[in-house]
Amino acid sequence: MPSDADKPDHDSAINLADKLSLFTDHWSPKVIAELNDYQIKLVKLAGEFVWHKHDHTDEMFLCLEGQMKIEFRAGTVELSPGDLYVVPKGIEHKPAAARECHVMIIEPTGVVNTGERVGTLTAPNDKWV
Ligand code: NI
Repeated sequence: MPSDADKPDHDSAINLADKLSLFTDHWSPKVIAELNDYQIKLVKLAGEFVWHKHDHTDEMFLCLEGQMKIEFRAGTVELSPGDLYVVPKGIEHKPAAARECHVMIIEPTGVVNTGERVGTLTAPNDKWV
């Protein structure tokens, strides 16, 4: 569990640009807030992720900056800034971004970024920024 020091205080807003300025690594989501049993995360994407699925939860992507796509076995969804997409649970998907893209993800606490496909791109959970 994160320490209380990692969590935002209750007297100030959470600024997305400020939070995005605090990390540079790719494919490693950072938690910025919690909402009941859900976490709101920021992540920077670049290049190709791995095919994976989440058997127990949907996964929400909101593109903040740059362009990204989410590949499915049956097609591809393209996201530009302001575009939101919810990947249904159990559906194989592979995010990708030709150039760096900044994204907000909302999903239940404890979801593994690579789903069932644990590997070099599997990121630790509960990394707050
Ligand atoms: Ni996913």
